[in-house]
Amino acid sequence: MKLVSQSGLVSIDPASIPQRRLYTGATMPAIGLGTFGSDHVTPAQVADAVLGAAAAGYRHFDCASVYGNEPEVGVSLESIITGGVKREELWVTSKLWNDKHGEDDVIASCRKSLADLRLGYLDLYLVHWPFPNFHPPGCDVSSRSADAKPYIHENYMKTWRKMEELVDLGLVRHIGTSNMTIPKLKLVLRDARIKPAVNEMEIHPHFQQPELFQFVIENGIQAIGYCPIGSPGRPERDRTPEDTAPTDDPVIAKIAQRHGIHPAVVCIKWAVQRGQTPIPFSINNYRANLAGVAGDPLSEDEILEIAAIDRNCRLIKGQVFLWKDGQTWEDLWDIHGVVTPP
Ligand SMILES: NC(=O)c1ccc[n+]([C@@H]2O[C@H](COP(=O)([O-])OP(=O)(O)OC[C@H]3O[C@@H](n4cnc5c(N)ncnc54)[C@H](OP(=O)(O)O)[C@@H]3O)[C@@H](O)[C@H]2O)c1
Repeated sequence: MKLVSQSGLVSIDPASIPQRRLYTGATMPAIGLGTFGSDHVTPAQVADAVLGAAAAGYRHFDCASVYGNEPEVGVSLESIITGGVKREELWVTSKLWNDKHGEDDVIASCRKSLADLRLGYLDLYLVHWPFPNFHPPGCDVSSRSADAKPYIHENYMKTWRKMEELVDLGLVRHIGTSNMTIPKLKLVLRDARIKPAVNEMEIHPHFQQPELFQFVIENGIQAIGYCPIGSPGRPERDRTPEDTAPTDDPVIAKIAQRHGIHPAVVCIKWAVQRGQTPIPFSINNYRANLAGVAGDPLSEDEILEIAAIDRNCRLIKGQVFLWKDGQTWEDLWDIHGVVTPP
């Protein structure tokens, strides 16, 4: 592991972190810092973590307007840049929230995120969810919008045209999708002028999504993996009795013990070696996660052992997006291979 000394702290050389090559030829660090404080970490704590993570060697930050902390994170990004890190060395993602899919809202929302983050451009802007349903931040999973709508491809493409315009305007370098399925992505790939560079999706050892992962890679789309540790700090509303925790898995525990690292770091190492880009959230352990990526890899046998513990256990089910009575959350994820009819 290449170490450099910065501000008295030993940091990991960003040049020793693997990079993902996007279809545009741009490169993106293969690990980023998540910034969703799961309702219990304050914006100031997240902004501190961004500063500390940059000092530790992170160059990739996963933001979103709905996380409610872009103004605070922006102050940190500005000071990282004035402190000597060049803008082009950073990879900053933000996301369009679900109540801003309207054609007049997309560019304005992106400009607001840019102003809050104190940046002239974003490296990546994602449509956060394919459902244009407003629900108040922090609402319960049983909450339903009276105006809830299903995925309507024509409408999604109207939003996507505006995303493409953001690239034309030079406000964003890449655009991408999040929380998509193969049937929805096939339609977007058919109709996009600028195809998605990235799909952000839940991936951890207990929810590996092998088909979707394979599909995006085959289509030249990078997979960013959210909840890479199994989101142990997620809000109560995002928990169900069936959920399992990859960090409690005996296979992960055994590998962690063998390497003398935390089970969370095993999840991060596995993610990077498998080929997705994990974006672990952390205010206390971000240095260990980056060091894990820069350090000794897991063995091929260990990678195979982890491949075998997939439980198809989706943690972020998206119940608030259901649009009519009698549905279950599986309807949001097109499990029958076609977009669930309205
Ligand atoms: N596109 C989407 O719809 C979407 C959805 C969900 C999340 N995301 C993004 O993905 C990011 C990550 O997901 P997440 O925050 O839900 O879950 P996560 O990254 O799987 O888990 C974060 C939790 O793990 C703990 N942790 C991290 N590293 C650790 C380590 N080495 N040892 C022990 N504990 C460790 C953190 O605690 P400490 O703070 O104490 O370290 C925190 O409680 C979010 O922040 C957000 O940026 C995107």
